[in-house]
Amino acid sequence: MIIEQLDKPLPGSLLPTLSGGYYTDPGVFAAEQELIFERSWFCVLHGSDIPNPGDYKLVQVGREQLIVSRNRKREIRAFFNVCRHRGMRVCTEDSGNRRSFQCGYHAWTYDLDGTLIAAPNLTKMPDIDRDDYGLQRIHVREWLGYVWVCTAEDPPSFEERVLGEVVGRLGQVESLDHYQVENLRIGRRIGYEVKANWKLIIENFMECYHCATIHPELTEVIPEFAEGWAAQTNVGRGAEFGDDIEGFTVDGSAGVIELPLIAPDQERRYFAITIRPNVFINMVPDHVIIHRMFPTSESSTYVECDWLFLPEVVDAGLDVSKSVQLFDRVNLQDFDACEKTQPAMASRLYRAGGALVPAEHHIAFFHEWLREALEA
Ligand code: FES
Repeated sequence: MIIEQLDKPLPGSLLPTLSGGYYTDPGVFAAEQELIFERSWFCVLHGSDIPNPGDYKLVQVGREQLIVSRNRKREIRAFFNVCRHRGMRVCTEDSGNRRSFQCGYHAWTYDLDGTLIAAPNLTKMPDIDRDDYGLQRIHVREWLGYVWVCTAEDPPSFEERVLGEVVGRLGQVESLDHYQVENLRIGRRIGYEVKANWKLIIENFMECYHCATIHPELTEVIPEFAEGWAAQTNVGRGAEFGDDIEGFTVDGSAGVIELPLIAPDQERRYFAITIRPNVFINMVPDHVIIHRMFPTSESSTYVECDWLFLPEVVDAGLDVSKSVQLFDRVNLQDFDACEKTQPAMASRLYRAGGALVPAEHHIAFFHEWLREALEA
């Protein structure tokens, strides 16, 4: 693994970043795919992306392409998109609806639970166990209305790894429960192709040292962000709206209908949680914004961002554009900064990395987690 040494020690107020190679080396990315994305709980889609029995969607997790589908009992299933006969992709369209999954090569056919149900001459091969030769299933959890998968044979504890991140940020999972995210509906979804390594996007999300420079609208709504301290550094604390701000919107005007069960200390505040390796959750009084990242190479990442509102807001077609506009601008500003940082990661000047100021010191824990995962 690449760890370049600094020529001289950093001053006490600075901590080192990862070295540039972590963001540019295809070998590091390959290791991350195998040791992080394929071994973590990875959030792939929202349940409403596959609402009906037989609906499926293809997703990429690490090096693996997966079929995520809904069976006749409306339960979510996930499989490797690899035919058990001679390996052809069983599904070749990104999404669709199937009564069963039939491979286009020799017509091996699997039901919606992955069991092998038909194949030419199958009755003449009575020793073939139809479950053993079914599509290989993957561990699935549903949480917050989203589908989380883990391709590892023995997945880590969801409670420790995923819910643990919520506890680490909010102090308790119950604080997130107040937002009833699983009952909210997607009011808007925007996808972003970002030409930057996924870790730059996470690091950017974790700190607010950049907020005063690149987020004029956000710091207008949350003035304390202009001081550079991210709310993520204080357990349980949300960042407060400015005195004259009515809602989390691009111009500070009132938002839509407030979520009914949020606690008094969640009103007029913004909370953010990073769930490694691919999810950001942002909570404000009337909506929740969820980012899912899909790292596609050492220098590119696809980010899908959902704005979730109460069902009555979406059903009534209430205007949510000012709410969407605020975080869409934040996203574009952040991703632009990440894209302008990515090329310099390959510079010889960044071979030993850069520095984290005190407002960014907590990012060192992310780097420590990454190094430990890669050394595992
Ligand atoms: Fe799928 Fe032969 S490879 S049926």
